Amino acid sequence: MSDALKLDFGPFAAPARGVFVIFCDDRLKFGPATVKALGPANDLVTRAAKAEHFTGKMGAALELPVPEGLKVSRLIVVGVGKAAELKPKDFLKLGGIALGKLPGRTAEATVFAELPAGPMRAEHAADLAQGARLRAYVFDRYKTKRKEGDEEKPKSRNIVIAVRDAGAAQRAYVPCEAVAKGSLIARDLVNEPANVLYPEEFARRTGNLKKLGIAVDVLDVAAMKKLGMNALLGVGQGSARESRVVIMRWNGGKKGDAPVAFIGKGVCFDTGGISIKPAAGMEEMKGDMAGAACVAGLMHALAGRKAKVNAVGLIGLVENMPDGNAQRPGDIVTSMSGQTIEIINTDAEGRLVLADVIWYAAQRFKPKFMIDLATLTGAIIVALGHEYAGMFCNNDQLAERLRKAGEETGEVVWRMPLGPEYDKQIDSKFADMKNTGGSRWGGAITAAQFIKRFVDDKTPWAHLDIAGTGFDSRQTDINKSWGSGWGVRLLDRLVADYYEK
Ligand code: BES
Ligand code: MN
Ligand code: ZN
Repeated sequence: MSDALKLDFGPFAAPARGVFVIFCDDRLKFGPATVKALGPANDLVTRAAKAEHFTGKMGAALELPVPEGLKVSRLIVVGVGKAAELKPKDFLKLGGIALGKLPGRTAEATVFAELPAGPMRAEHAADLAQGARLRAYVFDRYKTKRKEGDEEKPKSRNIVIAVRDAGAAQRAYVPCEAVAKGSLIARDLVNEPANVLYPEEFARRTGNLKKLGIAVDVLDVAAMKKLGMNALLGVGQGSARESRVVIMRWNGGKKGDAPVAFIGKGVCFDTGGISIKPAAGMEEMKGDMAGAACVAGLMHALAGRKAKVNAVGLIGLVENMPDGNAQRPGDIVTSMSGQTIEIINTDAEGRLVLADVIWYAAQRFKPKFMIDLATLTGAIIVALGHEYAGMFCNNDQLAERLRKAGEETGEVVWRMPLGPEYDKQIDSKFADMKNTGGSRWGGAITAAQFIKRFVDDKTPWAHLDIAGTGFDSRQTDINKSWGSGWGVRLLDRLVADYYEK
């Protein structure tokens, strides 16, 4: 992360320099503190709005360089539309938009967290700050040159968010900052190329979580062999890089309380293996570990805000490569569960990784629920595009909670079906099951059915297919990078709303 962004909260006071950001509604109304700070410039803003046909629509912005009557170098008016209808995720968006409007050279900015009806509540000001933090992220560690015409960026950017009660806003922001950091950690992992981030290196980086009080254990190949994780090991056997499983435990809840469990697909690179993928776009498969990245980021978020929950994160880290030692179509592997799998397509590798990690998670931790995240199928992108993640769930209550948490955070999920009709497609002539359904149709569902065979029906379980949302999502107001960090805010909210008592 190369955004040296410093965010502080302060009182409403007309800024003496830098960029000044204010909010208005769709009737061009400002709050009282904003009106006061504008002073004689109120009239200027009204005239500029008219000239620019600025109507205060949600997300629209009016920019005035060197505004007469103010000491600042630039005034930016951001529209919020109908202020009474703003939801928490809208404050996040407004924070992102405000930050996005700052010229690159900006070293100082003041944002008035005020709506026409008065100052924003502390939590909303904190959401604003979180949105700015997320938007400021850039992944440029491999850029050694500046483009011609690009201005030099200041070493650090100081942004003051003016609020009624700076202490209260700061307190509300502390957990938001931990969650934002979790999202950014996940983005970094997704953006990192596979020559740098291979299973062992990913495992090493999870070691940073120890500083927050998370217990991190790594299973190496020998340990996995002993456990019988042959489905996972089969995927990694063609790679020069060794496979790993990482187990991250955060115990912020009651002693002895069953943990909630999050499981991530961590295919650090997916060539498809012997069933090799076409060349076009294959570079994107460096992001095939977005599920694992989310789990690592989520663990950071939970521990960072000292969540009152026992949580365990498990990630299966492999690289899927073609090789003389690679797994072949037709091979039969015995998973840790004892069930045998006939490999039909070595490119359907994510489910093989999840099969063993999910089984292990259930056996070892007897969790309250299990949620797995995986960039599992192209088929889910065909179905839902890049907006919603696909959700497959064996429990209506968990599904509803995930849906709501999605609406609150903007990381939305759409429930997809499970059913015996689809399950038949993965029966095998030679083994207990095969790893693909044979036909392309309903590919995201047959993949989910496969995973379901490694979940006992008593444990509430949700599978989130994030192939469309984990990376290359449409550029949003709170993310301009490739990796999205999708799922960190969603699952943090799920935990906060329902499992921290
Ligand atoms: N990692 C891919 C799925 C994927 C595709 C993720 C595009 C993100 C963007 C997965 O391992 C895969 O290759 N799935 C195959 C399954 C098929 C062989 C049954 C697919 O979707 O084509
Ligand atoms: Mn694949
Ligand atoms: Zn894959």
